[in-house]
Amino acid sequence: MDFQLKALTASQLCIEKCDALVVLVAQDSLPAGASATLIGKMTDHAVAAGDLEAKPGKCLSSYRAPGLAATRLVLVGMGDASAKNVRVAVTAAINLLKNTNVKRVVLSAGPNPVAASTVRTMVTACSDAAYTYTTTKSKPGQSGFEHIVIAASDVATVQASFDLGVALHHGVGLAKEWANRPANYATPAMLADAAKKLGKLPKIKVDIFGPKEVAKLGMGSFMAVAQGSREPLRFIALHYHGGAKSDAPTVLIGKGITFDTGGISIKPSAEMDEMKFDMCGAASVLGVFRTLAELKPTINVVGLIPACENMPDGLAIKPGDVVTSMSGQTIEILNTDAEGRLVLCDALTYAERFKPLAVIDIATLTGACVVALGGVRSGLFSSNDALANALINAGETASDLCWRMPLDDDYAEGLKTNFADVANVGGRAGGAVTAAKFLQRFTAKFSWAHLDIAGTAWKSGAAKGATGRPVGLLVDYLLGQAAGQSVPATSATSTTPGKPVKSRIRRT
Ligand code: BES
Ligand code: MN
Ligand code: ZN
Repeated sequence: MDFQLKALTASQLCIEKCDALVVLVAQDSLPAGASATLIGKMTDHAVAAGDLEAKPGKCLSSYRAPGLAATRLVLVGMGDASAKNVRVAVTAAINLLKNTNVKRVVLSAGPNPVAASTVRTMVTACSDAAYTYTTTKSKPGQSGFEHIVIAASDVATVQASFDLGVALHHGVGLAKEWANRPANYATPAMLADAAKKLGKLPKIKVDIFGPKEVAKLGMGSFMAVAQGSREPLRFIALHYHGGAKSDAPTVLIGKGITFDTGGISIKPSAEMDEMKFDMCGAASVLGVFRTLAELKPTINVVGLIPACENMPDGLAIKPGDVVTSMSGQTIEILNTDAEGRLVLCDALTYAERFKPLAVIDIATLTGACVVALGGVRSGLFSSNDALANALINAGETASDLCWRMPLDDDYAEGLKTNFADVANVGGRAGGAVTAAKFLQRFTAKFSWAHLDIAGTAWKSGAAKGATGRPVGLLVDYLLGQAAGQSVPATSATSTTPGKPVKSRIRRT
């Protein structure tokens, strides 16, 4: 499926040949009145008759309407034309046309000039609604939509927003593809190959480390998780060079557990299949790099992915085992199912060598975060207010929301143990926060944020599948940096939102 931006006036829309013309109808554009085109008049009539409301997602469709070149016309309400309502409207229209033989769709936001940001939303909403996973189906079936044309009266003002939408379509699509694949089609080695393929794109270089190199680096914690699996681990390092050589990079670390059985602390079998999604953090990093290669912002970004399986086995780690992390800190593994933090901590230590501007880890880390925030907002943890606020704002712009959670030291009490420097679990209470407190022990040398995406990276139930989040949030954050909104060198920091305390040392 490809996207095209085309200059089309309201009257040109009527003579544009396509299988379906989708026109979004905003509340304040009604009625269009006597000057309106055929489409405007049809809209007015339908509204007057009570058959169309500008309510977001309400559709009215017609077939071979005289005077229209389009085979189908779908009028769809988009309320106040907010990003949220544009998304609802586009999703409703695309769902209506899905599983028909519609190949070429023209999408218009109505006769008035469209707001630049709306175009990005039109593209990404269309991409999300049209997406279908096919990789492991024997008959991929009807591929559905082939060309989506976004109509705009003034192409120049919306071109950048369109380009961003298309780059996100590719990046989010890549993240969904790898996240959706079953674990036997997405092993650590296969993830590494996917990263290597990205290394062929402009400005991207990729390094892959296997068990020997990882042992040499001293990543004892990461290796401990991997030791129960027949699939050898991979440590993937992606480099995007868009800025000057001396520019400090932002480091993104994605949890890459290609399957999480829980290990010896094995999970119940119900819904265990969903633990193939335990590499959604890694998939989002791959998706971001795909998008960066297309947009070429003038920044440097490093992506790190510790990838392995978490399996029960004769060689697997046992509750009570103590391992030594790359940082030198010893860890008592009280629960082998708290494995995400064990692979992330070594990647955090590895990130120090880049003297990063900021380090953001992305992980399907805790069931507790799903309980706390559900599937609406990702959990955001950061001791750096400027970084946290930049991520929150990026989430708003991208309609990929997150919510800041606390990091009070009192939450780390449960991680104390008599047998190592730290235990890998605290009690059940506040589980998303104790996980973040564990990670924080490995972040003293840089500005750090942690996104717990356990609730937002995939959907359960009938719509089971990956969402591609938080690629949108991360891309907007990085583009903000390229635009010069980087984290200030001496930013106020705090352990609790809204409660500033003394600044932390950070390197730039
Ligand atoms: N990958 C899971 C987190 C998870 C659980 C995500 C359920 C989505 C749904 C993670 O590795 C895990 O198992 N975490 C444990 C931690 C616990 C043992 C402290 C959890 O959340 O139960
Ligand atoms: Mn686990
Ligand atoms: Zn896990």
